[in-house]
Amino acid sequence: MNLAALHPGSLLTIADLPIPEVASILALTARLDQTPAAEKAKLLANRRIALLFYESSTRTRTSFELAAKSLGATTTLVSDKSSSIEKGESLKDTGLTLRALGAECIILRHPASGSPFVLARTTGLPVLNAGDGMAQHPSQALLDLRTILNRLHLDPTTVHDKSLLGLTITITGDILHSRVARSNVMLLPRLGAKVILCGPEPLLPEIAAGLADGLEITRNFDEALSRSQIVMMLRIQKERLAGLELDLGEYIARFQLNEPRLAAQAPKALVLHPGPMVRGLEISGEVADGPNSAILEQVTNGLAIRSALLVRALGAQAN
Ligand code: NCD
Repeated sequence: MNLAALHPGSLLTIADLPIPEVASILALTARLDQTPAAEKAKLLANRRIALLFYESSTRTRTSFELAAKSLGATTTLVSDKSSSIEKGESLKDTGLTLRALGAECIILRHPASGSPFVLARTTGLPVLNAGDGMAQHPSQALLDLRTILNRLHLDPTTVHDKSLLGLTITITGDILHSRVARSNVMLLPRLGAKVILCGPEPLLPEIAAGLADGLEITRNFDEALSRSQIVMMLRIQKERLAGLELDLGEYIARFQLNEPRLAAQAPKALVLHPGPMVRGLEISGEVADGPNSAILEQVTNGLAIRSALLVRALGAQAN
C-alpha cells in the first residue's frame, strides 16, 4: 500500500496532542467566537469537506457540518446507510474516491478503532477523528475541556500542566465502551486533574486503571461524588454490549445521577454528559435539566471547537 505522511492538520487521537497545541486550539476557538459571521464565512470559502459517517451521530455530525458551513466550506455527507459502503467498498477506496472528488479534509466516524489512522495514511488528507470504535473521540475531550474551563472562569488560551490542579472529576458509567472516557482520561490528568472512574465491573474492568497515570477506580459512586467538583455521566452503549447482561434496576440504584444523590454528595458539582442521554437510566431528567448541568453548553462548545479544528486542518488564517 502506498502510504502518505500524516497531515499535520489531522486530529486522530488526543493522546499525543501536546498541551501547548491544546492551548493553541482553545485560543483559535476563542478568536473564531469573536469573529463576525461574514468574516468567518470567508475563512474556508470554496473548500471541500467530506463527512464520512459509518455510525449514527447527532451532535458530532451536525456540529462539524454547521461549523464547516459557517466557515464558508462546501460539505458532503457520506454515510454507511446510503452509499457504496453498503455494497462493501473499503474505507481506503471510499477515502480515495472522496479525494478524487476534491475533498480536502475528511471527518470520520467509524466502528473500528484506529480507522482514522488508516484513512489519513491512505489519503494524505487532514482527517478529523469524530469517534473510532471504543478508542478515541478527541474533539469531544476538547469541547469538554472548554466547558470545564469556562465554568471555572479559567482562561482557556493559557492552559498548562497545572491548570486543573486540585480538581477531581468522576466519570461514571460504561467506561469500557466509551471513547469519550478514553479521550478525557488521556487529556485531563495531563492538566493536573485527578480522574476517578466509576462503574460496575463488567463496564469498568480493573485494568482500566492503566489508561493513565494517577487514575483511580471505584465501585462506590456516592463516595467518589462526595470528593468531586465535576461529574461526567456516560450512556450504557447497548450497541456494543455484545450479549453482556446488566441488571438495570441495580445499575440505576448504584450509579444513576439523580437529584437526591447529587444534593447529598456534591450539591455544587458541575454535571457533564456527552450525549445521547438515556433519561431515567444513567441520569435523571431533573439533573439533566437542573442548574448544575452544563450538557447543552457542551453541545454549543462542540460547534466552536470543531470550527477551530477545521480551520487548523485546512490551514486558513484566523487572526
Ligand atoms: C458519544 C459517542 O458517540 O462516542 N456521543 C458523542 O459523540 N457525543 C457517546 C455515546 O454514544 O454514548
